Amino acid sequence: MNTTPITNDPATQYKIEAAQAAAAFVQSGMKVGLGTGSTAIWATRRIAELFANGVLRDIAGFATSRATWDEANRLGIPLLPDELDAVLDLTIDGADEIDPAFDVIKGGGGALLREKIVAQVSRRLIIVADESKLSPCLGTRFDLPVEVIAFGWHSQRQYLESLGAQTRVRLRKDGSVFATDSGNLILDCHFGPISDKPALASQLSSRAGIVEHGLFLGMVSDVIVAGPAGLKHLHRQV
Ligand code: A5P
Repeated sequence: MNTTPITNDPATQYKIEAAQAAAAFVQSGMKVGLGTGSTAIWATRRIAELFANGVLRDIAGFATSRATWDEANRLGIPLLPDELDAVLDLTIDGADEIDPAFDVIKGGGGALLREKIVAQVSRRLIIVADESKLSPCLGTRFDLPVEVIAFGWHSQRQYLESLGAQTRVRLRKDGSVFATDSGNLILDCHFGPISDKPALASQLSSRAGIVEHGLFLGMVSDVIVAGPAGLKHLHRQV
């Protein structure tokens, strides 16, 4: 099985290169978190290919979204049950913005809650991206996704605005309100460059009705980015 397409689009090519480089870190016997988005999906496809070809044996995947679950299942990756009664050896996921401290913003695809649950039970979290996602300061390039429950959501919007954000309710392409896999709403919050990441994370986490936010701080062990100059693998001890 070969799931790699031929593409003339450099951005897609970089995503594929970064994701496939990360998939090389999966070993037989591992439990692997499968990320969400247009980059991480290539890691899932590569892992499926290596499993189908017999290069990887005895692996089990755990998907960070229904979309990823559907693709992994379609490609024949054995999947762990939703209860997640296991520690994951490795998770490969994408990101929307990556800073020099290996902190990232996630949630552009709306899967931040499940992605964070998976990240925090992973021994190693590899972020894969094209190099346009690198940024000197989180919040510069991407608005922070914040997942809120529908009940009382206007009060969360006011709270976020009191913290300095301009907020947008995430909509689908057809104009209807986007709902996450857990049935919640996303407020995309423009804070501008975030100078105190832990303080903002703590203000968001302490608010009832905010289910999760897209700041992933201190969780990432590896960043693999691809661009015109080739692949870069950055690693740190977490
Ligand atoms: C999904 O909710 C996100 O966290 C994605 O991992 C992130 O948005 C990156 O997606 P792309 O690889 O599609 O840019």
